[in-house]
This record gives sequence, structure tokens and C-alpha cells, in this order.
Amino acid sequence: MIERARQIALAAGDILIHKLMTGVTIEHKGSIDLVTDADKASEKYIVGELQKAFPHHGILGEEGARVEGTSDYLWVIDPIDGTTNFAHGFPHFAVSMGLVKDGQVVLGIVYNPKTQELYLAERGSGAFLNDKRIFVSTKSRVQESLLATGFPYDIATTDQDNMKSFHVANKASQGVRCLGSAALDLCQVAAGRIEGFWERSLQPWDIAAGSIIVLEAGGKITGCQGQNFNPLGNEVYASNGLIHDELLELLMR
Ligand code: IPD
Ligand code: CA
Ligand code: CA
Repeated sequence: MIERARQIALAAGDILIHKLMTGVTIEHKGSIDLVTDADKASEKYIVGELQKAFPHHGILGEEGARVEGTSDYLWVIDPIDGTTNFAHGFPHFAVSMGLVKDGQVVLGIVYNPKTQELYLAERGSGAFLNDKRIFVSTKSRVQESLLATGFPYDIATTDQDNMKSFHVANKASQGVRCLGSAALDLCQVAAGRIEGFWERSLQPWDIAAGSIIVLEAGGKITGCQGQNFNPLGNEVYASNGLIHDELLELLMR
């Protein structure tokens, strides 16, 4: 399964690069929530290929894919995570594909076709970046940590705008980056490039694949209040494990 999924993610990435070269059509889902024809083309391709390869599996995709499977397997896919970056030509976006079985992610692939970085993990087999094993960092204090977060699309109108957490964590750490792709943010924790990432108001396709990549790299995943992580839920707090409790205490203030 993982090899076929890897090929599909790579080919979907090629579709995105081709679209960037030939022209992207942008529409608005909300005032700052974009969707492009590339999101739709990528999802259509991924769904078609998954259905050919795994006809009994279910599929849940951001751009509307809903396939009711006849097995316990559910693919949770984001055809472009980081659409705003993609639409601006900012080279930080990814194809994200997670496979969930009995409420647990068993496989995850996140591919940035611009940098050609492919992150992959299968439950119990470790996490890899372009076939090289990756591990979370060994920094043990928030003060020596680099962090990441993201903000919701309804930031202009909601009270849950993440500003308080951002403010507190930014002052306590070496910085909080906002890179615009939750799936890639999780992979940065897995690769040991940042120590922690949290975000609320997400969707399963933003977090499913990346969550297993963090876990298999030796990291820790919970909700933003320390509760059990739900891959089909709406929030994530990932860390290298060592700073988990200290940063959690700051986020809960
Ligand atoms: C978004 C990205 C972004 C996060 C947003 C997500 P999209 O996904 O993951 O980093 O802050 O909340 O919706 O819309 O680019 O697929
Ligand atoms: Ca997304
Ligand atoms: Ca998306």
C-alpha cells in the first residue's frame, strides 16, 4: 500500500508543478480561504488512483471526495495543504495522504513537490524523509525551542484567534513561525527542525498524515489541551515530547 500511495503522491505533486507553470485559476471559499483548479485536479487524480488500487477503501478529501468503503480503511487526503502559499507561488505546500484504520492512522505521506521532500511513515516502521530515517529534536526547554502555529481562516471574526497562545509562546521561545501548511509543520517537528507545533480549527485532512510521521519520528501528539489526539478531529499539538508539558502549560494560560 505504501509504495502505491507514494507513487500517487509524487504524481499529484507533478500535477501541481505543471499547474504552476501553465497557470492557476483561483476561487474564494471564504474571504481569505482560497481554492484553485489545481486543488480540484490533484484531488480528482488521487481519488481515481486510490479507487483503482484499493477499491474497498473509503476516501475523505478536502475538495468534496466522499467514498463510502466496504473495508475498515479510510484515506484522508488534502490535495494541496497550503493552498494560499500555492496561489502566491510561495514554495511551501504539500500533498497529504493519511490512511486511518479503526480510528488510528496507520500510514502517512506528505510531499512538497517544490522542494521534492517526501515524508513518509507506516505505523511501527519509523519515519522517513526521502528514504532517510528522521527523528524529533532533543531540545528539552521551550526557551531553546523553535515553534510553529497557524491561524484560522475566520481570524477576522472569531474570538478563538490563537493570538494569546501565539503571544505567550513567542515570548517564551526562540520564535513561532507561521508557515501556512499544517501537514508540513507536523513534518518539521518530525524532522527535528522545530520542537513544537500547535493549531486549532483544523480538519482531519490537515493532520492525519502528519500525525503518524511525528509519532514514528519519536514525537508526541495530543490535542491543544493535552487530551488524546483524534486524527478525525479539528486540532493538534505536536512536539518532540521533551517540551510537551512545558509548552502545554503556556498554551493553556
Ligand atoms: C490550511 C493550512 C494552514 C492552516 C489552515 C489550513 P489548506 O490548509 O494547513 O497552514 O493554517 O488552517 O486550512 O486550506 O491550505 O488546505
Ligand atoms: Ca489543508
Ligand atoms: Ca487543501
